[in-house]
Amino acid sequence: MSRPIALVTETIDDACRRWLAERCDLRAAAPTDAGFDEHLGAAHAMVVRTYTTVDDALLARAPNLRVVGRAGVGLDNIDLHACRVRDVVVVHTPEANTEAVVEFTIARLLQSLRPVREVAQSLPEDQWKRLRDALITPRQASGATLGVLGFGRIGSRVARTARSLGMRVLYTDLDEIPGAAAFGAEPVDRDTLLRESDAVTIHVDGRPENRGLLGARDLGFCKPDCAIINTARGFVIDPHALAVWLVANPKGSAWLDVHEPEPIPADYPLLGLNNAHLTPHIAAATRRAKTNMSWVVQDVWRVLAGEQARWRAV
Ligand code: 3PG
Repeated sequence: MSRPIALVTETIDDACRRWLAERCDLRAAAPTDAGFDEHLGAAHAMVVRTYTTVDDALLARAPNLRVVGRAGVGLDNIDLHACRVRDVVVVHTPEANTEAVVEFTIARLLQSLRPVREVAQSLPEDQWKRLRDALITPRQASGATLGVLGFGRIGSRVARTARSLGMRVLYTDLDEIPGAAAFGAEPVDRDTLLRESDAVTIHVDGRPENRGLLGARDLGFCKPDCAIINTARGFVIDPHALAVWLVANPKGSAWLDVHEPEPIPADYPLLGLNNAHLTPHIAAATRRAKTNMSWVVQDVWRVLAGEQARWRAV
């Protein structure tokens, strides 16, 4: 067979792109680009990230497609059932960004419990002392309780790190976690977790059942100064209910890296709230993690070459 055609729809690491280009006829086009459908119609492989929706309508326009490579972890933008029905293999990189997301989560957790303010000018002694007193935080990580929703690769490592900081850690997960793998974290039901936690961090996956996982009823259980951290997917929290809760609980806070939709629109209910700390989906944004994710091209090539993929989702 002549060289297969691989269509890259979003930015990936240069070295990985070159590696794929040595083996395939490489095309680059985003779904919104003119000419995308022409490339799609010819493509044997596609490499995507978060912002390419691979649904049945797209697959119907890709008669030659044999493999979709998701450079990243989340598969919520890919209709796995439609891929299976059309015999399209899906590969991804579930271990590529774990450390990056754990670090980001812990940074947000510490910032929520121990906010840091810097000084940019010389101050007289009395003001200096007053400032030091004013900056005493009511809480510290050690002794505080962290609730972890979803105890998979990321959630469990967040728990391990939090335990090493002296935190009590509660968690929920669909699976039973063997004792040693829980790092001293305690399994509890969701309402107990929400009631007892000083901070709640979300690490569930993007399956449709997790839509609206945290809504008005759930937020009602949270402590008034709870910090809610979300690096999973925006749709797991009801943003309208969260905005109402943040207004009613000015000491509470939300640390949201993921949103629904992205980019956030002008009428996003969390915009403009002092206690809503929004970041643009960057928990996994380290050079190393991005490179790790882009190496999905190796699995894409394995599928094209008829070999066994390392991380096959479908
Ligand atoms: C993921 O699912 O891997 C993360 O959300 C990062 O995705 P991105 O590389 O598309 O930002």
